[in-house]
Amino acid sequence: MKPTILAIESSCDETAAAVVSGYNILSSLVYSQINIHKETGGVVPEVAARAHLEKVLPIVDRALFTAFSTQKWRLGLGREFLNKIDAIAVTYTPGLIGSLLVGVETANALALSLKKSVIPINHYEGHLASFLTPKQDLNFPVLALTVSGGHTSLYLMTSPSRFEVIGRTKDDAAGEAFDKGAKILGLPYPGGPAIEKLAKGGDKSRFKFPVPLSLQTGFDFSFSGLKTALLYTANKVDLNSDQTKKDLAASFEMAIATALVSVTKRAALAFSPKAIALVGGVASNQTVQDEVRTLTKNLNLDFYLAPKELRTDNAAMIGLAAAIKYKTNTSHDVYPEAQA
Ligand code: KG4
Ligand code: ZN
Repeated sequence: MKPTILAIESSCDETAAAVVSGYNILSSLVYSQINIHKETGGVVPEVAARAHLEKVLPIVDRALFTAFSTQKWRLGLGREFLNKIDAIAVTYTPGLIGSLLVGVETANALALSLKKSVIPINHYEGHLASFLTPKQDLNFPVLALTVSGGHTSLYLMTSPSRFEVIGRTKDDAAGEAFDKGAKILGLPYPGGPAIEKLAKGGDKSRFKFPVPLSLQTGFDFSFSGLKTALLYTANKVDLNSDQTKKDLAASFEMAIATALVSVTKRAALAFSPKAIALVGGVASNQTVQDEVRTLTKNLNLDFYLAPKELRTDNAAMIGLAAAIKYKTNTSHDVYPEAQA
């Protein structure tokens, strides 16, 4: 049986709700707090938690309505469809505790009143599920590169539900490197898209950012050295020159992509997967995509890219991860333990 799952995600600065039926996404809505956090150049946890509180019920209501009706939504109409839900999935860790609490307690309260179970989902498992689609025939094992604002890891997946971490970042995540690099260049939050835009007219070979020795063996990543190298270079050059700024952005973007691909290539050669998957917010970066795609071509592997709307944080990926769990484990805890 394909379970119909209502999923909630509120681990950082997106309030999201979705309804999935198996791997089919019936609705997926995201309220992004980006405009709120732009003013402070990053996420302020207290502000994020309050914004989640304001949006979580309207977005759940709207996700339910959108999944089951083609009419125009008005607040309160979605709750009429709560009886169609088999279980409620929610991101329970990792994340900002105030933000997580909003989603977890909303899920618990709904589950309690509906007498349904809660499927607690780790946020990273959600990102990992984001390339699964009902149409695709996927070849496992898959080497999954997850690149987001809080997370950069390589997983070896032998099936949608079986995976192990084989490498992770020792310091900053790739998205964090983009965000911090953008601050150095005086660009707005979130930094990834801003750097990508600026890099378009830049020369990616003008500035050389060395790959640290620690990245030349093993499967772990490190990006804090790159950020420091950018800071030193930015202090030496004239940032009032538009072209210099563009060249710096392009070179920095290329250095991140190169670091990601060199570790991924080493892992692919060591673990012989059938495919490489690219997921997470940074997967939207064209240079990163191109470099990973080229790697898969050279190694004769399939390339699975998470769909655009599932790359940055969303609840559909949490629903997909829950759909996998629902199949393999039908006795879910009604009240997940607080493990954050
Ligand atoms: O997956 P995500 O929404 O959040 C976490 O789970 O952390 O990813 C957000 C991250 C941010 O750091 C943002 O700068 C980065 O993804 N990002 C990008 C691009 N779009 C988003 N980085 C580089 N290029 C992009 N086009
Ligand atoms: Zn994420």
